[in-house]
Amino acid sequence: MLEERTNDLLNDEARQFSLLLNSVTDYAIYMLDTEGLIRTWNPGGRRIKGYTNREVVGTSFTRFYLPEDIEAGVPERNLHTAATEGRYVGEGWRVRKDGTRFRASVVIDPIRVDGELIGYAKVTRDITERHVAQQRLQEAQANLLQAQKLEAIGKFTLGMAHDFNNLLTVIINCQDLLEAKVQDEGSAKLVDTTLRAAERGALLTRQLLSFARGQTLAPERLDLNDVMRECEGVLRRSAGDAIALQLDLADDLPTCAVDRTQLETAVLNLVCNCRDAMNEAGRICIHTALQFTQDPARPEQPPTAFVRLSVHDNGPGIPKEQQARVFEPFFTTKPVGKGSGLGLSQVFGFTAQSGGFTRLISEPGHGTCVEMYFPAV
Ligand SMILES: Nc1ncnc2c1ncn2[C@@H]1O[C@H](COP(=O)(O)OP(=O)(O)OP(=O)(O)O)[C@@H](O)[C@H]1O
Ligand SMILES: [Mg+2]
Repeated sequence: MLEERTNDLLNDEARQFSLLLNSVTDYAIYMLDTEGLIRTWNPGGRRIKGYTNREVVGTSFTRFYLPEDIEAGVPERNLHTAATEGRYVGEGWRVRKDGTRFRASVVIDPIRVDGELIGYAKVTRDITERHVAQQRLQEAQANLLQAQKLEAIGKFTLGMAHDFNNLLTVIINCQDLLEAKVQDEGSAKLVDTTLRAAERGALLTRQLLSFARGQTLAPERLDLNDVMRECEGVLRRSAGDAIALQLDLADDLPTCAVDRTQLETAVLNLVCNCRDAMNEAGRICIHTALQFTQDPARPEQPPTAFVRLSVHDNGPGIPKEQQARVFEPFFTTKPVGKGSGLGLSQVFGFTAQSGGFTRLISEPGHGTCVEMYFPAV
């Protein structure tokens, strides 16, 4: 009896197709007429998009598209491509009934009877998970590449900075001796000028050393909130009167093992950058928080506890094409004498040498945020 029914069924082509379509739940398969109205669809469509049959049959397939895509005429264009080129294949964001978005892989084929177009077959698959995983992988690879590049610059810089430091030490010592010997005012002035230039050079090499992580740090266990409160006055003066500086410090922050002077220098570098970017009025916020996260340069390690110290401004932001370069030593967009391009490289080197890392978030037109992460002790 059952065998007979199965045989009957397998001989009825129309029912076979209907059975086949109704068994597919991972793909939304639907038929559209030439105007894009939905004529029929399978349970996969209901599952992926969340509508019932009654809600969609007879309505336009554009309802699954994002409002901005509808406005730009994307749905009509896709049908047109299918009709004129024989097929449309693409990917895009679509909306479910509950308003959530999903990444869809879409294929549209024209259906023709005796050469005449009578509608379209559309197959949609939800590929959100794959899409998100791919994006994460790409981000991780980009971060790793950036970290490796800075590592290479760091090694090179370390060698150079050590040699320069030795040379400058000799120059400064000799100038000191000379200063004590010269009698006439003109010569004394020359000696003084060379001495100041050499000292400035020594300061620059110290910053280079801190980028290259060749600086000898003196870490102590610190509550970063305390350090911020103590240097608030200096930071305020550096920001200037026209710029509002605000501290937003998290309660119950764990301590970190960091070098106090380097930390103060780093925050001062960040505040000065914000001030320079905003030139007149603006807002700077220094924020602390505890965060469980992963060091981007060590993607194999599980997330651990970091104290995040971030400095935000509401200035013009950093152009996308410059963002990968700002941590490089000597990268500056400021005129000669205004910036040496070592501020952010000090921040980068110091956080890395402290066992943490730095992250830049900047949206042109919406300000800049530099985050320093230090391992919580
Ligand atoms: N908050 C910010 N807003 C906009 N641009 C910024 C900001 N911070 C940094 N930049 C950009 O990044 C560049 C590099 O910054 P960095 O602090 O390393 O060097 P600098 O400020 O130019 O010179 P230095 O800090 O040595 O005086 C800056 O020249 C600027 O173009
Ligand atoms: Mg700077």
